Amino acid sequence: MQILDGKLVSQATKDLLAKKVTELKALGKKTPHLAAILVGNDGASETYVASKVKSCAEIGYNSTLLRFDAQISEKHLLDNIQMLNENADIDGILVQLPLPKHINEELVINTIDPSKDVDGFHPMNVGKMVSGLPTFIPATPYGIMLMLEHYNIDTKGKHAVVIGRSHIVGTPMSILLSRNAQPGNCTVTLCHSQTKNLKELCLQADIVVAAIGRPNYVTADMVKDGAIVIDVGINRIEDSSKKSGFRLVGDVKFDEVAPKCSYITPVPGGVGLMTIAALLKNTYNAAIGEKEHLN
Ligand code: GUN
Repeated sequence: MQILDGKLVSQATKDLLAKKVTELKALGKKTPHLAAILVGNDGASETYVASKVKSCAEIGYNSTLLRFDAQISEKHLLDNIQMLNENADIDGILVQLPLPKHINEELVINTIDPSKDVDGFHPMNVGKMVSGLPTFIPATPYGIMLMLEHYNIDTKGKHAVVIGRSHIVGTPMSILLSRNAQPGNCTVTLCHSQTKNLKELCLQADIVVAAIGRPNYVTADMVKDGAIVIDVGINRIEDSSKKSGFRLVGDVKFDEVAPKCSYITPVPGGVGLMTIAALLKNTYNAAIGEKEHLN
């Protein structure tokens, strides 16, 4: 069993980007600039956005954080996105999700200029991804692809079972794994809350991607020997022994599943860090006016 080390791979990705930014600066070209919007004060969202902003600084990007309280009107939020769209110094825009219930998320995403949509959530970018055209790939599935690529894991012809059909992770993951590319060329089964025989399907999987948001959901009896297990879950479990009052666990019961795997991602230290590395890659590409080609 080998651990897929998100810390190592994300650091390698960030080191490469830092070098490229130094080169851009030496050529007098613009410094990549990410704008992040955070609405309200959800603890997890605060942590994610803080990590994104910190990572920008680490590799020499500029970043701008716009914070609004949860009562912000939809119009005011949309006006601010429009302002960022029109600001030529801003290369990438991300609006941390979820948003408060009174705000229409779809409208917010549709307002982001597709050429600055480094999350890859705008329908135009989703359409390009589905069509196999160069575009911004959503950061979590993109980060997972980077991890599989780094470890040279041959995915061709493998049966991948993706659990969870969110627009952010499960659905784009299923599309990327089924593409005619390496990593890719998988036969993909996309499972969700209405799937009837989930355990049987998982037991057939050469690759399991767990993206359901339920702590310790995938247990050893659901995974076949030698499987590759990718754990997307970042669940906060109360733990009074921790200073923060919680600890993070994945969607996979790591201790019992890991011994059966050929490869597995830990939580923390796995996919979460790759999500940030992928976002930084998208932001670099936005700054130089290119889109990533995965095929
Ligand atoms: N919320 C959970 N994951 C993500 C993500 O990748 N991007 C944004 N903007 N919000 C999220």
